[in-house]
Amino acid sequence: MRNIVLIGFMGTGKSTVGKRLAQSLAWDFVDTDGEIGEVTNLSVTEIFRRHGETRFRSEERIVVARLSQQDQLVIATGGGTVVDHRNLEALARKGIIVGLHASMEAILSRIGHKHDRPLLKGSKAAIEKLWSERQECYAQADFTVDTSRKSIDEVVREILARLGRTTDNEFTRASKN
Ligand code: S3P
Repeated sequence: MRNIVLIGFMGTGKSTVGKRLAQSLAWDFVDTDGEIGEVTNLSVTEIFRRHGETRFRSEERIVVARLSQQDQLVIATGGGTVVDHRNLEALARKGIIVGLHASMEAILSRIGHKHDRPLLKGSKAAIEKLWSERQECYAQADFTVDTSRKSIDEVVREILARLGRTTDNEFTRASKN
């Protein structure tokens, strides 16, 4: 069985939606940031602060390579994971890639006040620039769901419907083929 991989900018709901999606499929959920934290024993903020983004990206690549070998996982990636095309290729080999999209307005209202994302420390204009620059990476998803004005359950239902799953216990099509 393929993995289901959630990609998209910070604050689009990858982890929240991913956990709920995994629950409804009775699959395991993993979050690349969480895995990096386990391996390094450091939070994302700490890795950035102590070792810089380059080290974070290299830990991220190792985690992605490992998770890409597994099956039946719902994987929430970090917002920058698929900027590295090697990560996207690895994840796509055994996974269906689901893009989560949200408007800049929704993203800022969800996470603008939080302090756990080093790349959100810049000005609103800098965040918007990053968001725009990354849209072409996220556009490589097999399909995309806009989460801006939807509840978690609505997003999960939409993903399951797109995957061809009509009820939570009946998988009719988990692959793009
Ligand atoms: C990042 C997004 C974060 C985390 C790190 C870098 C990014 O994950 O991986 O702070 O480059 O967009 P979330 O998308 O889960 O916030």
